Amino acid sequence: MINALIVDDEENIVKLVAHWAKKAGLNPQGFTNPLEAIEAFEKGDFKIVITDLKMPGMDGHKLARKVKSIAPDTEIIIITGHGDLEDAIDAMRQDVYDFIRKPFLAKELTQSLEQAVDKIILREENKRLLHDLKDMNKTLEKQVEERTRELTLKNKELEKLDDLKSKFIACVSHELRTPLTQVDSGMFVLNTVLEKKADESEKKLLHIIQMGVKRLNSVVQHMTKILQAEYRDGLLSQENISINRLLEEVYKEVSYFAGLRKQNLDCRLPEKEIFFKGDKGKLMDILVNICMNAVKFTPDGGKISISLEDAGTSFRTVIKDNGIGFTEEEKLHIFKKFYEAGDVMYHSSGTFQFKAGGLGLGLSIAKLFAEMQGGKIIAESEGPGKGSIFTVEFPYSQMS
Ligand SMILES: Nc1ncnc2c1ncn2[C@@H]1O[C@H](COP(=O)(O)OP(=O)(O)OP(=O)(O)O)[C@@H](O)[C@H]1O
Ligand SMILES: [Mg+2]
Repeated sequence: MINALIVDDEENIVKLVAHWAKKAGLNPQGFTNPLEAIEAFEKGDFKIVITDLKMPGMDGHKLARKVKSIAPDTEIIIITGHGDLEDAIDAMRQDVYDFIRKPFLAKELTQSLEQAVDKIILREENKRLLHDLKDMNKTLEKQVEERTRELTLKNKELEKLDDLKSKFIACVSHELRTPLTQVDSGMFVLNTVLEKKADESEKKLLHIIQMGVKRLNSVVQHMTKILQAEYRDGLLSQENISINRLLEEVYKEVSYFAGLRKQNLDCRLPEKEIFFKGDKGKLMDILVNICMNAVKFTPDGGKISISLEDAGTSFRTVIKDNGIGFTEEEKLHIFKKFYEAGDVMYHSSGTFQFKAGGLGLGLSIAKLFAEMQGGKIIAESEGPGKGSIFTVEFPYSQMS
């Protein structure tokens, strides 16, 4: 229940006001002495004060000021005498809630009290809501903090994993390089010695071993390249490259494999030659990697097109195929090291066969090589079975 303090030097008025205050649902306490009233106010929890203006000991203005200084939210209703309009205006200036002129009607007083009660209830409700909101905010903040901590931890784990992958590549490529050189040179000697003596089936076997060594060599090369790119090892050469000529070379290299797969490989180059200052070997690696992916991930008889365009401040090479494409989810991962979409178990082996599984390093190498020269690669697909488009873009200036 809301406590109301009533102050008037006329006891009858105190009683009358208390009567109506009770009817309005308040718990009134009346005083004829304003000083005693203030004492009681300091001790009690009063939300409404109804006071007369002219009282011996302390006038209503002073009392109102005192009350506001103790509890600013208190609603004050002032009861003024006849002709005290000036006082009433003063009262309004002092942030009192209402004033009522004597003699007042019960209805006037009740209305004023009820409105004050409504205001108090609303304010309390607001306070509670604000408190709840603050609590909710705190909970949310806490949750955000927790999630951020979790994410940071996950990120650290991922960084560690990436670091481990790099270390693994470094180890494996280092361990493989020496024995591989031995096998490679041994193979060369064996081949020259046995070339004439070997029968057909032995020759076939020799060929298979040679192909295996070649594949192993390319795997080790891939590993070395990604290490180079990650640690920005090795110098980036700066040659003046004709992109038209470079794409003709790429076309020559890839068309052999596309031919084996009966794919239609088309290369459209602009008449005006496009020149770029950059690392030719790395550009070649990027484009061959992406074109060989197009060959691998497009069924036999499919279509692959390579095109080149001048985009003003940059040039764009677009490699488009009508192959297996990829999902939006897969798109997020294809540039990551060792990532291969689809089930690796179903990949065939080899370098150009349909869905041939490699190491899953080609695109990560291409991306790093492109970024080293200020370029970027954009991968797009309308979904599985709907082909893919890889756009390689390099600004004419701005090497990193
Ligand atoms: N043109 C494409 N169409 C559909 N999927 C593709 C295409 N190019 C790449 N991908 C997907 O992205 C994955 C990663 O490609 P990336 O070149 O890095 O690896 P890879 O070709 O499998 O192996 P590597 O290049 O190391 O021999 C591929 O395994 C394949 O799932
Ligand atoms: Mg590849």
